[in-house]
Amino acid sequence: MTSAASPTALLVHAHPEPTSFAAALRDQAERTLVDAGWSVEVSDLYADGFNPVAGPGDFTSPSDPHRLHVQREQAHAAYSGGLAPDVLREVERLERADLVVFLAPLWWFGLPAILKGWVDRVFVYGRVYGNGLTFETGPLRGKRAMLALTTGGPESSYSEGGMHGDLGVLLHSVHHGMFRFTGMEALEPFVAWGAGWADDATREGYLDAFAARLAELASEGSEAA
Ligand SMILES: Cc1cc2nc3c(=O)[nH]c(=O)nc-3n(C[C@H](O)[C@H](O)[C@H](O)COP(=O)(O)O)c2cc1C
Repeated sequence: MTSAASPTALLVHAHPEPTSFAAALRDQAERTLVDAGWSVEVSDLYADGFNPVAGPGDFTSPSDPHRLHVQREQAHAAYSGGLAPDVLREVERLERADLVVFLAPLWWFGLPAILKGWVDRVFVYGRVYGNGLTFETGPLRGKRAMLALTTGGPESSYSEGGMHGDLGVLLHSVHHGMFRFTGMEALEPFVAWGAGWADDATREGYLDAFAARLAELASEGSEAA
């Protein structure tokens, strides 16, 4: 646990529509965790106008102004305090969090570009990973991370022999390449299957199940704090 007082969650939300089911999951997560005594921070990427495109603007005083080497500049900025304010704000939220939840629709078998870009810019080499610090020595060790996804396809299409293939395989790049790589524990994802076309009763069921899952995670996290 990283916080001495109440544990903290960071909800990173990536859907452009405020009435989407991903937004309903975000609100449910916030309510449940606050009720359990947690502090909750929300990075609402579309609403905040988060820029997901890594580039020279990520660094206030680059070590090489003539050629952009992103990892080298990330390390330099991490060391010298030269991260752009929007990147630094998100890094600090990430570092404060005991639990990180990505809430998003599944787009093209992966994360929406705005969320992938958040990772590109915020998982800063030399601070969030790198210099030999990955996996069990990753700087984010002790934190737990979870995907909360909505899909268009039904659960049956994401099984091993199904039309879309095993969801666990599709999500490996997130669970292993982002969460575990930086030292976090990758929790089982929560998936609201076919959220776009599900009826009200099914959606209510998803919201109840999500609240129950988070309440359980919250009580485990509070015990460990
Ligand atoms: C750009 C785009 C890509 C999508 N790719 C997938 C996909 O790979 N798998 C899937 O099951 N649904 C896919 N969908 C459907 C969304 O996951 C689905 O509409 C969403 O989860 C339901 O919530 P919403 O209608 O509130 O966005 C895609 C939708 C869009 C717009």
